[in-house]
Amino acid sequence: MEGNTKNREVFVSPEEIKKQNDFSNRVKTMISSRFGINQPLAFVHTYGCQGNVSDGERIKGMLENLGYGFTDEIEKADLILYNTCAIREHAEDRIYGNVGAIKKLKRANPNLIIALCGCMMQQPRVVEKIRNSYPFVNLVFGTHVIHKLPELIYRVLRTGKRVFECPDSDGVIAEDIPVHRDTKIKGWLPIMYGCNNFCSYCIVPYVRGRERSRMPADIIAEAKELIALGCKDITLLGQNVNSYGKNLDCDINFSKLLRMINDLEGDFIIRFMTSHPKDCTKELLDTMAECDKVAKHLHLPFQSGNDRVLAEMNRRYNREQYLELARYARKVMPDLSMTSDVIVGFPGETYEEFRDTVTLIEEVKFTSLYTFIYSPRPGTKAAEMPDPISREEKGRWFKELTDAQEKIAGERTALMKGKTYRVLCEGYAKEGILNGRTEGNVMIEFPEVEGRDVLGEFCDVLVTDPLTWIVRGELK
Ligand code: 5AD
Ligand code: SF4
Repeated sequence: MEGNTKNREVFVSPEEIKKQNDFSNRVKTMISSRFGINQPLAFVHTYGCQGNVSDGERIKGMLENLGYGFTDEIEKADLILYNTCAIREHAEDRIYGNVGAIKKLKRANPNLIIALCGCMMQQPRVVEKIRNSYPFVNLVFGTHVIHKLPELIYRVLRTGKRVFECPDSDGVIAEDIPVHRDTKIKGWLPIMYGCNNFCSYCIVPYVRGRERSRMPADIIAEAKELIALGCKDITLLGQNVNSYGKNLDCDINFSKLLRMINDLEGDFIIRFMTSHPKDCTKELLDTMAECDKVAKHLHLPFQSGNDRVLAEMNRRYNREQYLELARYARKVMPDLSMTSDVIVGFPGETYEEFRDTVTLIEEVKFTSLYTFIYSPRPGTKAAEMPDPISREEKGRWFKELTDAQEKIAGERTALMKGKTYRVLCEGYAKEGILNGRTEGNVMIEFPEVEGRDVLGEFCDVLVTDPLTWIVRGELK
């Protein structure tokens, strides 16, 4: 696919969306005759990244339009839907386990609809396994046909047969899908979908299609909608937000988009994820520094601190280029909080090469890290590479890395003591104790104060007791 606007097929047509609305109405009628006045309930669970969470909000929006309410109690559900993640083997295993466990619910309620969607369902080997070993699953659909959910449920209800709809595709963009948001305080805003990077370990480009950007006007309209709902923290989402706009034929890039959202009226902060270092420009870092609403938090995955491993990973930057970006970012934003993703035990990595990852985190001093032991993903290049280091050995390296990060995180949070931070109060940690995050994404817990209703609001919190991963404080 060359580009969005050059290739209009990437946008789902208004006629198709209208067709789905018609299916919605038909399903609604079928459901009301089946359930009478009792509203049917759906249990929807999403695994994986925020991109998947955002898809889940659209899936729930469509289910709501079909007449479903939602329940957290799986036994009470008339429809169970798992929106799956394929990023690591562990994520997949958990889903097989959970699906196996709901077989007994189906026996108790033969009308129960069981549906699976998301990244796992874009892999033919997974779909075959579900087809053959999980015959009680009614509906399986991939990431490129989410907008067709009304039609797919219609087919299940109408025919009583199993429906599999997992086309291979470069991907589409479907606008005007209803969204059911679980919280109004924080909002997820997808700006682009798919990935073109083909890092050698990663399954995402195979299951999410090619990079494609939403039109700026659609993004701005959704941002305004979120602000009107009272949302105070908007996270722009994409596998690689730095390449936003590359395939649009209007004059836009990610920095320009950030400025447009920053200019919207209202009291809110803007976050974004994920950035790829190869496309992270000084222009973007300057833009972050200049935009008052953009959180001074940068999630910039480096994956490995060793140049040979980075090349094998097909990351297209080296250690020094990453460090240079980090130095520049801290120069223009002295209070910047940085977080990152790291893989330990990539095929062929030696202990000495792994140590370069440890020295990199000691140099950059991240606020927190998402650390993963390498997991082979069938179909990727790295899955074919010799991988002689045992799981136990990788486990020891992993512990060495997390111990080093724990020390860094403790030193960083210790510096917060006695300082006051602007915090968006998100909810309750437990009874009487509220929590929220600083702009730099550090979790703060603080006691509720009678007469002050700060839930969903920005408030000033004085840090009194820094722990390693979270800090405690009090309302000012
Ligand atoms: N094994 C382990 N970690 C992985 N990630 C992606 N693919 C794999 C894999 N095969 C990690 C990367 C990425 C994050 C979302 O998940 O660190 O940034
Ligand atoms: Fe998200 Fe990737 Fe997992 Fe899919 S495979 S849910 S894109 S992390």
